Amino acid sequence: MSKLKRHLARARRPRLPQAPPVRVHLKTPREIRIMREAGRIVARVHQALQEAVRPGISTEELDRLAAEVLARHGARSAFLGYRGYPAHICTSINEELVHGIPSRQRVLAEGDIVSIDVGVLYRGFVGDSAWTYPVGTIGPEARHLLEITERSLRAGIEQARPGNRIRDISRAVQQVVESAGLHVVRAYTGHGVGRNMHEPPQVLNYVGGDRDGSLIMEPGLVIAIEPMVQVGTPETETLADGWTVVSKDRRLSAHFEHTVAVTEKGPEILTLP
Ligand code: MF3
Ligand code: CO
Repeated sequence: MSKLKRHLARARRPRLPQAPPVRVHLKTPREIRIMREAGRIVARVHQALQEAVRPGISTEELDRLAAEVLARHGARSAFLGYRGYPAHICTSINEELVHGIPSRQRVLAEGDIVSIDVGVLYRGFVGDSAWTYPVGTIGPEARHLLEITERSLRAGIEQARPGNRIRDISRAVQQVVESAGLHVVRAYTGHGVGRNMHEPPQVLNYVGGDRDGSLIMEPGLVIAIEPMVQVGTPETETLADGWTVVSKDRRLSAHFEHTVAVTEKGPEILTLP
């Protein structure tokens, strides 16, 4: 079709009511610098927690350790008090997917997996990262789940570059997970991050018809990419405590997350030491 004909075809097309494009807050280089510091503190908390994870430790002890590292860095938990959330981090064991509340009664055992989600508020900006850790030696099903979920995070991050769409991240994550025979949770998603923990755009872990998926990424966009993956089915439910999200079939769940800045040169992971 010629350029002119294409123009005319488009001009004659009736205007359908269309959702306005999603508005995102692009960060300045100065803001990215602060977010890099916030992200580094998130990574320091993870380092301390990873070293502490072992059979016999309670998730309350992990929470206390996180609080100490945060205080040492002049940072605060972005979770504590968020919609009434009662702890500094989330600790989700085995079939628990996200938002598990640390507790003195919950003691890690050999063979468990524990997903730890850390959100930090530092100089007005948020860093957000989650990792699923093995406790001692874990079984083959758990090992496979952790390996694939981490790989899907890396594949998603790889797509976070200028000119790509958010949907390219979603597709990459889904492809890695489903080709390994595992399941992408639909009920929770990644998100923009900045002065608030949750900003537009939504970052799905599967290709859906959502408006934000068509957003073309630009330098200055900062997003939390966070595949949540289950062994049995994609279905989840929330326990009676109002927070803890578990797989409906009570089989294993995993969660890996980084805060990532889109730069001219490609993705920059902010939540690294
Ligand atoms: N890190 C989670 C997310 O990205 C938020 C934890 S929910 C809270 O959605 F209530 F614990 F803060
Ligand atoms: Co998040």
